[in-house]
Amino acid sequence: MKHPNTWSKATVRAHRDLTPTVREFELLPERGVTPWHVGAHINVAVQVNGEDQTRSYSLVSLPTRSQADGVYRIAVKRALNSRGGSRFMWSLNAGDRLNISQPGNHFELTTNLTGPAPHFLLVAGGIGITPMLGMAQSLATRGAKVQMRYGARSRAELAYVEELRAALGDELEVFCDDAGEQINLDHEIAALPDHSQLLICGPLPLLDAARAAWARAGRAVADLRFETFGNSGQFETQAFWVDIPRHQLRLEVPANRSLLSVLEEAGVQTLHECERGECGLCAMDVVSVSGTVDHRDVFFSAHEKLNNQRLCACVSRVHRAGGGGALVLDSAYRADG
Ligand code: FES
Repeated sequence: MKHPNTWSKATVRAHRDLTPTVREFELLPERGVTPWHVGAHINVAVQVNGEDQTRSYSLVSLPTRSQADGVYRIAVKRALNSRGGSRFMWSLNAGDRLNISQPGNHFELTTNLTGPAPHFLLVAGGIGITPMLGMAQSLATRGAKVQMRYGARSRAELAYVEELRAALGDELEVFCDDAGEQINLDHEIAALPDHSQLLICGPLPLLDAARAAWARAGRAVADLRFETFGNSGQFETQAFWVDIPRHQLRLEVPANRSLLSVLEEAGVQTLHECERGECGLCAMDVVSVSGTVDHRDVFFSAHEKLNNQRLCACVSRVHRAGGGGALVLDSAYRADG
């Protein structure tokens, strides 16, 4: 049961390669651009192996620019190990049409900037730069004190550096894996004034490290805000089996599909909303597992993930050396009556 979403047609107006693996798309919505705030995303209907699936992409840059140009901008990382969504996006050309949702937002800048200028540390890893660009631009325009630390595999894989430099000047520092550079989160957090906020978007290991460093520093949980992508796990993506005794079902979850989509297709109704491992609505009870649960959400704590009692069906998977992993789940959904 997906929350209602308003979909409409859009046309690819243009695209350009920002890096060898990141392509920006300008999407011209048939019904015009709906007002949005930085941190927002749109869902895009993609075709994967002949099936309709949905992917979520952050809206890039500032809402005012989007409104003025009449387009949504998204940037898509071509992932070799992906479930197929990025391959579909990279197959699009100018003039192609696709279905998109209206903007939604789980990562809104809620700070009231009317008081003394607050201090923000923005951290981006890889394609996690997409929501952070607009945040950096918006906060800098509003007079906040902003620093950004942005990490990528190599210098060639850094996107939007010119725009970031224009907004932040020397407050932007970049880190490249292939040069042996790493963001020192403990150091960065220790240097922040009290009541600073950390906003972060990147792969799960970066988020986990930031959450741990934030906790070690004794900072308030509410001052750390984050977003991740739903496909960055600790293990390679494999097919696995799932048993639902309550429904007398045994289903295969292929490598290119989520557990949630397979359950839905089989009629196992599951509440869900973000499909990015953030809201926890799709959490299900784990009865047993053969292999290792690859928790790819940011909803459960590290302790809860170790306990393995529940998982987020939208992003989490099972991995087993040599394949053949399996999971027994109890569906939390109870039909009325
Ligand atoms: S739908 Fe939000 S965590 Fe799965």
